[in-house]
Amino acid sequence: MDLWSAKTQRRYQTMATENSTNKEVRTEILTNMDEQELQTILKEEATMKDSESTEKRNQDPLVGGYETAVSVSIDSLVIDYHPRKNLGDLKSLMGSIKRDGLLEPLLAYEMEDGKVALIDGYRRLAAAKEFGWKEVPCVIWKKMSKRDAAHLSYVKNAERNAFDPIEIAMHLKAMMERFGYSMRDLEIKGYGSAASISNKLKLLEVAAPVQEKIRSGELSMAHGIQIAKLPTQKEQERMAKRVIDEDMTAKRTERQIDRYLSKGKQKDDRPRIQVPDSDIPGVYMKDSRDMSEMPDKAVHLIVTSPPYSVGMEYEKGVTFEEHIEMVQGVLKECGRVLVSGGVMAINVGDIYNFKGREGKSKVSQVELMGHKYQSWLRSHGIFLTDTILWLKPMAAWRKRPDIQYTDVPHTTYTMLPNFEPVYIFRKKGERETPSEEIVLQSKLTKEQWTAWTPAVWKITPVLKAEGHPCPYPEELCMRLIKMFSYEGDTVLDPWLGSGTTVKVARELNRVGIGYEKEPQYKEVIMKKLGTGNVRADFEGVRKLMKEMGLSPGEEQEVKESHEEEKEETVVEHAEGQLVMVAAA
Ligand SMILES: C[S@@+](CC[C@H](N)C(=O)[O-])C[C@H]1O[C@@H](n2cnc3c(N)ncnc32)[C@H](O)[C@@H]1O
Repeated sequence: MDLWSAKTQRRYQTMATENSTNKEVRTEILTNMDEQELQTILKEEATMKDSESTEKRNQDPLVGGYETAVSVSIDSLVIDYHPRKNLGDLKSLMGSIKRDGLLEPLLAYEMEDGKVALIDGYRRLAAAKEFGWKEVPCVIWKKMSKRDAAHLSYVKNAERNAFDPIEIAMHLKAMMERFGYSMRDLEIKGYGSAASISNKLKLLEVAAPVQEKIRSGELSMAHGIQIAKLPTQKEQERMAKRVIDEDMTAKRTERQIDRYLSKGKQKDDRPRIQVPDSDIPGVYMKDSRDMSEMPDKAVHLIVTSPPYSVGMEYEKGVTFEEHIEMVQGVLKECGRVLVSGGVMAINVGDIYNFKGREGKSKVSQVELMGHKYQSWLRSHGIFLTDTILWLKPMAAWRKRPDIQYTDVPHTTYTMLPNFEPVYIFRKKGERETPSEEIVLQSKLTKEQWTAWTPAVWKITPVLKAEGHPCPYPEELCMRLIKMFSYEGDTVLDPWLGSGTTVKVARELNRVGIGYEKEPQYKEVIMKKLGTGNVRADFEGVRKLMKEMGLSPGEEQEVKESHEEEKEETVVEHAEGQLVMVAAA
């Protein structure tokens, strides 16, 4: 629908006829007017209420009465410069044009080459194009320089709709670089003080994704100016995220960034422990009561789950007394290797159906374990500071076919322990803080903080464990590592099991170290970590040959070459597959 010709054109024609006597006078005065006067008039026009405008129009031949508006072909209008980069909600403008017609003509000027360039009406022009109009009403000024037109374009647009901070910065840049304005010129023209102009220009130094957040209003101009102080795109993006996540004020952002910059971009040069060679780097298949591979105070965080003394396959034949002795021995080593201020997160359940230390008691009871760990660790200067309740949403009686509703006499009901505690201990003293960069990198997001600080964690347990009877879920481990360590820290699990802690620690850019005494879990760990070699004895080769389906003749050949050449054969896990490769 051509609303210009159908509705609006009629309106302008009427106005032009009404004011025809003033036409020449106005055109002449407008084109020769100095810029300040021109602006005053434009401002008045824009702010006048309809009634005032009509009244004034009748009294003052210079104001209102768009008698100078002419129909201009849309295709002939040039956009040489326009400060509005964002068209905004064009639909609502189109709706209003549909309803009321185009209430105000576009504003343009004649360039030196005779082409007509738009000053004001970028969005109206876009709407007209959407409607498929061929022409638009336009007031055209002659004798206007490009630099004046650029400024006027900004003033006119700013009157109608505020620019976003990035548009302002881009305009200031264009004014200086393209149109030759000095800082002083801009001050005189009302763009603010030199300092504020320089600050606004800094917004153009921030990374594009951060600029987008300023545009969308997620970050203010003041935030952007602070973030621009950060030298790299990565640092800027990280800080922007943090500002949004933590709802930081501009003042707080400034303090954080200044502190960060004053500390300097220190490299993360904390002493690293050398991980001695082992078949699986960083994993020791041995009893962790002796962790002599680890120097004192070399570990920043311990995340672990010990045996519970509940008759699992790896604790067969171990009495409760022996179990306690083993745990105490491992905790002592943990106390030695943990840094001051370091955290030890222990997931340990209580013992249900406990039949006494000798296992002979007729009374079946619950043996609480947390307080035992608390008192053992206290003697190493490590104190209980928090508890987390890991809630297992999948637990249900139907998973215990040995216990039937019909078999349970009233009042003898027992509870289904669908939770396990995770105890958070801290070693006394203060731990070293890494560089600000690492601190920023490691900090929880606001969402994580909100979700993880309430102490009940609902996490689905591992439902189908492969190769180990009771791995804990990676999610549990991930939260603990993210909450209680920095990137680059060393994380230890002295009861490694299937290797979960080391896997997750490495995925989170930490150094993962583990101890596991049962050799049968070596392959499980290798598979989980996706790395490491096992030097195979001939049993390993035999197993491999079986898997490969070699004929007895081929098998003999491999056996001979293995024995005669004393060739070291290495079985590697390559993408989860067992493959045989020649030893290096
Ligand atoms: C509860 S499981 C750990 C499961 C582990 N969190 C996972 O996700 O796979 C405890 C593990 O500690 C191991 N273990 C028991 N005593 C040990 C010791 N003294 N030194 C090293 N490992 C030990 C057991 O063989 C078992 O694999």
